[in-house]
Amino acid sequence: MVATARRRNPLLVPLLWATRSLAQARREWTWMCEELGPSVKSHARMLRLQRMCKARGRGVPLQYVLGSESFGPLNLQCRKGVFIPRWETYEWVLRCLPYMKQLYEQAHDDSRPLEVVDMCTGSGCIAQFVASALHDRVHVTAIDVSMKALALARHNNREEVCRGRVGFVRADVLKQVDVWLPFVARCDVLLCNPPYISDADLVRVTSSSVRRYEPLLALCADECGDAFYRKVLREIHRAAVYRPRYIAFEVGDKEQAKRVVQLASPHWNASIWKDSAGLERCVFLERTTNNNPPHQPHKFPVY
Ligand SMILES: C[S@@+](CC[C@H](N)C(=O)[O-])C[C@H]1O[C@@H](n2cnc3c(N)ncnc32)[C@H](O)[C@@H]1O
Repeated sequence: MVATARRRNPLLVPLLWATRSLAQARREWTWMCEELGPSVKSHARMLRLQRMCKARGRGVPLQYVLGSESFGPLNLQCRKGVFIPRWETYEWVLRCLPYMKQLYEQAHDDSRPLEVVDMCTGSGCIAQFVASALHDRVHVTAIDVSMKALALARHNNREEVCRGRVGFVRADVLKQVDVWLPFVARCDVLLCNPPYISDADLVRVTSSSVRRYEPLLALCADECGDAFYRKVLREIHRAAVYRPRYIAFEVGDKEQAKRVVQLASPHWNASIWKDSAGLERCVFLERTTNNNPPHQPHKFPVY
């Protein structure tokens, strides 16, 4: 296979190390050529292609090499140091949309958008998707502790129609409750894909490329991976607020999904959603009580 690759195009060889399939190596080569576009001059283009292929050969995820990844209809920038959006996440966020639309139609007058919090926003994929799907019916607050993530999320929020519909807040969810709770206590829907892998599971459930190149901060959490679910649910309960109406948490597996359902009981009706690979991927919570207090107008700072 290596000899065939070398004969066709020597730069396919490092791609082969990463992909282990000639067909996939050729596909990645095509994507890299497309990413550079025709405007890059031939010598500079070849140097950049060489660099990209070598990086890929070292195991750097394709999304970091190309600098982009799709999230449903969106094409988002990816940068080292920021978690790469996953299709599994897109699936459950898409499934939340009808709930948000219904909530908007049922409970909102035209003057106020639905308030959504995207906690642990990373590249901003969830915030950006919700903002572009619901347009002026929504305002999203995107929260993360990482400056790199927030810078990228802000960059990914460049689409004209979404600008101004997403605000960015830096907060440590585990330590700065006073910063994030006011946003959550006023929102209608909380969407959250937190770090959820336990240290013990890290090697079992992730590839070496994920461990070497994606930020550990985005992957691992204490308390068997449950630290964020526990913290968020405990603080919302402690604050004795009636919002949000819905919470959707991404989870890693069936056992974790069951633990989150237990943590949410009895204040929330829980459903466990599977992804299209048949794996438990999201815990969707709906408040068991409906008596929302009137909305408090709030000025959202944009950082
Ligand atoms: C699994 S990634 C999810 C990113 C994005 N929402 C997505 O679905 O692709 C988790 C994110 O949580 C952020 N994070 C980690 N620890 C945090 C903390 N203590 N407070 C706030 N955000 C945190 C990371 O920076 C990372 O962007």
